[in-house]
Amino acid sequence: MQQSFDLYFVSSNKHKFLEAKKILNSFEIQIGFYKSELEEIQSDSLQKIASKKAEQAFSQLKKPVIVEDDGLYITSLDGFPGPYSSYVFKTIGNSGILNLVKNNRNAKFVSMISFKNNVFSKSFKAEICGKISKKQKGKGWGYDPIFIPNSKSKTFAEISNKNELSHRFKALKKFANWYLRMQK
Ligand code: IMP
Repeated sequence: MQQSFDLYFVSSNKHKFLEAKKILNSFEIQIGFYKSELEEIQSDSLQKIASKKAEQAFSQLKKPVIVEDDGLYITSLDGFPGPYSSYVFKTIGNSGILNLVKNNRNAKFVSMISFKNNVFSKSFKAEICGKISKKQKGKGWGYDPIFIPNSKSKTFAEISNKNELSHRFKALKKFANWYLRMQK
């Protein structure tokens, strides 16, 4: 029989779920995975995109949900791909990004976590600053092989403690603090 959870992470991306699960477990919050390809509205606001997805997810599942929307913002490209990061990854991918980035390699990764239950709709945002590497390094998912967080000299794909410093960790930490207070 399938285990039932008080909170579900709704996404089509298993990598995100596995990282979120590990991070939230460290705050003693257990989550289930509900795989769903949620419709993404066209917006330059991650918050609007994520909260719309949370509404859809909650209406499908009828249980408390979190969804996550992320963006990679590259300074020399005026923040591109930002909210279009998923489309850009599917089209030009990491090699396309490396072709676009020249001298100024600064970038940031932003995570927006949106929670919805029958009472609350709440979003939690966090970011990590870093750089785009010159070459792809390490075997990771998504943009991990080209993103070097500022405190490190290696890409997300090469470091073992990504889940202790990532944009996802920081946003989920904010969520966890609020969620645990709300449960009392
Ligand atoms: P999404 O629209 O939230 O799915 O994310 C935008 C893009 O960023 C997708 O291509 C994701 O695979 C990618 N992405 C999000 N978070 C990470 C991460 O932690 N590492 C690498 N790529 C990521």
